[in-house]
Amino acid sequence: MNDIIVLSIESSCDETSCAVIKNGNEVLANIVSSQINIHQKFGGVVPEVASRHHVGNITLVIDEAIKEANIDVKDITCVAVTQGPGLIGSLLVGINAAKAFSYAHNLPLIGVHHIAGHIYANHLVQNLEFPLLALVVSGGHTEIIHMTSHLSYEVIGKTRDDAVGEAYDKVARVCKLPYPGGPHIDKLAASGKDIYHLPRVMLDQDNFDFSFSGLKSAVINLVHNAKQRNEEISIPDLARSFQESVVDILVGKTLKAVEKYPVKQLLVAGGVAANSGLRNRLNEEIKHYPYLKLIIPPLKYCTDNAAMIGVCGTFSYLKGERSDLSLNGYANLDLK
Ligand code: KG4
Ligand code: ZN
Repeated sequence: MNDIIVLSIESSCDETSCAVIKNGNEVLANIVSSQINIHQKFGGVVPEVASRHHVGNITLVIDEAIKEANIDVKDITCVAVTQGPGLIGSLLVGINAAKAFSYAHNLPLIGVHHIAGHIYANHLVQNLEFPLLALVVSGGHTEIIHMTSHLSYEVIGKTRDDAVGEAYDKVARVCKLPYPGGPHIDKLAASGKDIYHLPRVMLDQDNFDFSFSGLKSAVINLVHNAKQRNEEISIPDLARSFQESVVDILVGKTLKAVEKYPVKQLLVAGGVAANSGLRNRLNEEIKHYPYLKLIIPPLKYCTDNAAMIGVCGTFSYLKGERSDLSLNGYANLDLK
């Protein structure tokens, strides 16, 4: 059989990325141009600024990916691109570049769901085996997903308000840490103690849903009250207290799901999968489930990247899914 070589593009937020994936699990190139430094001075991603930078970067990352993969354009089987969810202006830059590339080279075009991409990043570590559960934790999503076969997703639980990455970024902002705050809180948490006893919202409830806005507000109130009383807050202790609460909730709910759904694999997906507290706790807890394989992608495949879109796009291609030049971007898009 001929090799399947997917050229993939991801531009849903503040990373412009292009990858070349061979046979669904070999990364020939994964170029990620991050705009973090640009958005940092605004304390978060400014959508209009992000779109403009994607326009400036997109052809450069495509050229670089093809060069690094050391392939000829005629070796490419199809083009996969993130269709949503994400910032609409940012998505459209990647989608239009993918359309132009597929049209110019007469290649099939495939739209990929961003969260499906995050889940499929795990396939770069080990082949997915079904049934499985995926804990999806990113800047925009917090979900537990049950899969019984490739490309079929059942969302069994989700956040009712803020996503966990969003809570990390807001807590970091009140602590005056740079954007994106998750990695900074994670680093500081390592040297802090859990002394502030923050709430474990919804942990005792018999469902797989989450809520992080109450936890976020608890941190904000703590900081504001301390300021009014002229008291010192220890930022490492606050970071640790927040992280312990988040990890208790995420891991507690995930293990509840593992008890209910007899699965072979537990995957972790999305930017917050880079969190050391979450990774360590899951690696400990999984020892109680010897039949279950825990997969967490390496850090570079946790945060946004085109490699994950190429892996998922390979499975979509094999299934016969195709988009045409009417492919559109969607700020909100259900995972179906
Ligand atoms: O998946 P991602 O790159 O973009 C979205 O699809 O949202 O996730 C970005 C999120 C941000 O909120 C960022 O703060 C968080 O992932 N993040 C982390 C860590 N690294 C990235 N959160 C906690 N600990 C980390 N080490
Ligand atoms: Zn993402």
